[in-house]
Formats: sequence, C-alpha cells, structure tokens
Amino acid sequence: MLEDHFQVIDFNKKLKFWYLQNHRPLLWRQTSDPYKIWLSEIILQQTRVAQGTPYYEKFVLDYPTVFDLAAADEKDVLRLWQGLGYYSRARNMHFTARQIVNEFNGEFPASAVQLAKLKGLGNYTAAAIASFAFGEAIPAIDGNVYRVMARLFGIFTDILSNEGKKEFLVLAKQLVSQEDPATYNQAMIEFGALQCVPGIPDCSVCPFNDICYAYEFNMQSKLPVKAKKLTVRNRYFNYFILQKGEKLAMQERKGKDIWKGLYDFLMFESAGLLTSPEDFYENEIIHNLMLKGRIREVPKVYLHLLTHQRLNVRFWWIDIPENTQVDLPSDLHFYDQDEIYTLPKPILVDTVLKEENYL
Ligand code: ADE
Repeated sequence: MLEDHFQVIDFNKKLKFWYLQNHRPLLWRQTSDPYKIWLSEIILQQTRVAQGTPYYEKFVLDYPTVFDLAAADEKDVLRLWQGLGYYSRARNMHFTARQIVNEFNGEFPASAVQLAKLKGLGNYTAAAIASFAFGEAIPAIDGNVYRVMARLFGIFTDILSNEGKKEFLVLAKQLVSQEDPATYNQAMIEFGALQCVPGIPDCSVCPFNDICYAYEFNMQSKLPVKAKKLTVRNRYFNYFILQKGEKLAMQERKGKDIWKGLYDFLMFESAGLLTSPEDFYENEIIHNLMLKGRIREVPKVYLHLLTHQRLNVRFWWIDIPENTQVDLPSDLHFYDQDEIYTLPKPILVDTVLKEENYL
C-alpha cells in the first residue's frame, strides 16, 4: 500500500513530463490500432526494441490487418519471425489472429480481462493493449515497471513470486493515472528502459531522486529482488546435412518443441560432444549414410544460448553422389535451394547455410 504522504497526482505529473521530454518515438506508440499494438507487444516479449522494430515493420507491411495474418500460412508467419526466437510466440499469435477473426469478427476484445483469455497473452500484455488501445485504467507491469517500483518504494519481495506479484499489483493500481492510463503505462515502461536502468542508473538526473528509497539507501543494484535462479542445461546436437546435387534433406520439426514448425536436418542428440565420424558408427542410419557419401565436417561447435539451455551444435555435411539411392528417415525430404530459402528455419541453421555459402 502507498504511504499516506505519497502524492500520486504529483508523481503522475512528473512522470508524464519526463516522458514527454525523453521518450523514443517508437512506431507502435503512434497508433491506437489494437492489432498493431498487440503485434508490437508480442514481438517485444523477451526482445529488445532495437531487435524487434524491423520485425514489427515487416509484419505490419506483410499483414496490415488481423484478417491478413489470420489468412496466412503458419509456415510464412514463422519464416517472417525467423531470428526472433521463442517461436511459440509466433505460433500463438497466428492462432489468436484466427480466433479473433472467426469468433470476434476481427474485433479485439476491449478489456484486459477478456484479452487475457486469448492464447499468448499474459496479464502484462492484456493490460498494455487494454490501456494503449482502449484507454482502460489498468497498470501494465513488465520487468521495467517492477524495477522502477521496487527501487522507488523499497520493495524487497521477490518479483517472480505470487506474493510479490500481488503486492506490486496493489501498489500499481493506486499509481495508475485515471485520466491518461495509456501515457502512464508507456511512461513507466520507458522510464525503466531509459532512466531507471538495470545495474547502475544515473540517479543524479532522475526526477524522483528526492523520494526514491533505493537512491537514499544506495540499494539500486539490490533491487528488484528476483529469487528464482535459472538452471542452464548443456545439450549436444549433431546435425547431418545430406546434400545431393543442389538439394539438401530437411525435416519439419513436429511434437512439443521450441522449434516446432521450423525445418532442420537429420539430428542426433548425444550426452557429450562428439568429435570424430567414428563416434557415429554405432548409429546404423548415420553409418549407412557415411558409407554412401563423402563426409565433410563443419568443424566448429556453434553455441546457441536459450533461456534454460545451452546448445552445443556441430554440423556434419555428407555429400551423396547424384546417382546413389539413400533410405531417409520418413520425415526427411530433399528440397532445392529456392525452397530452402523460403522455409522457416532456426536461425542457427540459416547461419550455417550462409556461412557455408549455400544460401
Ligand atoms: N516493451 C514492451 N512493450 C513496450 C512498449 N510499449 N514500449 C517500449 N518497450 C516495450
């Protein structure tokens, strides 16, 4: 709860003033179209503004309305998303576009409670869209906003715990401007992104340094408290790129998987790093393929960092003579270069194909 002496109106005035002077003119701030705001918020989940902006521009260009996105092939949506990671965001976004068209005649639900029922929308995203597009007076609390509030008010409750989420929400509801919640939310996010930054912020120019707990007690680097530590798992992927003439054998990843719907190559996971072709002799499929073709190793080990996983990935390229018949596992098919260019692929696969001058 806010302490009695805290001046909410004063705080809002100063925050808005700071925002008007300092904010970046980001594209999605220049529209009240819920579709575009939703696109931007999904793209910006786990993605920085600089990286997300070109993707936002591409999506708005190719799919200017929710009807266009709903009518698209999932494959094309994933291809446009390629490189952003967390591909379930794109799949859910496509699913939700179809739901909005089919069940709501293309109109976005206009309240945070209704929006939060859609696939891929959490409380933050629902509140952001409801306030930016429909002016609902509800706080949108992302990582930036947690940091600002934790420091300003000296809240040491873990922001990832249920207790923490409740405590911050109670306080945020008291702070949100009733007159202009859209600007208030953009301003809090922007203030966290530009002024009250992680690590060591420059508090000498902060408009709230006269009322900030963290500044007074030099606790900026201790707040917010995030107790959960991520454990990162090492995984070892051995990819085999089978090339026949100009064609490469690729497969669509199926099943519950972060790369579902994307295309990659024949792959075997191992418990540790495998370094020589002999390491695969016990694998009948690979051994047979090696007998039929000429193996060239792409020697380096690519490290690909995901939130909970560190992928150690090695590629083995096997050239198979044109006239040789090979038995491929059923999901693998040979695709030509033009097809491979248009298929959605994990960015790592795209990188290797470019480095090897294939794409
Ligand atoms: N990150 C997520 N939403 C954002 C927004 N509306 N502005 C800036 N960064 C954001």
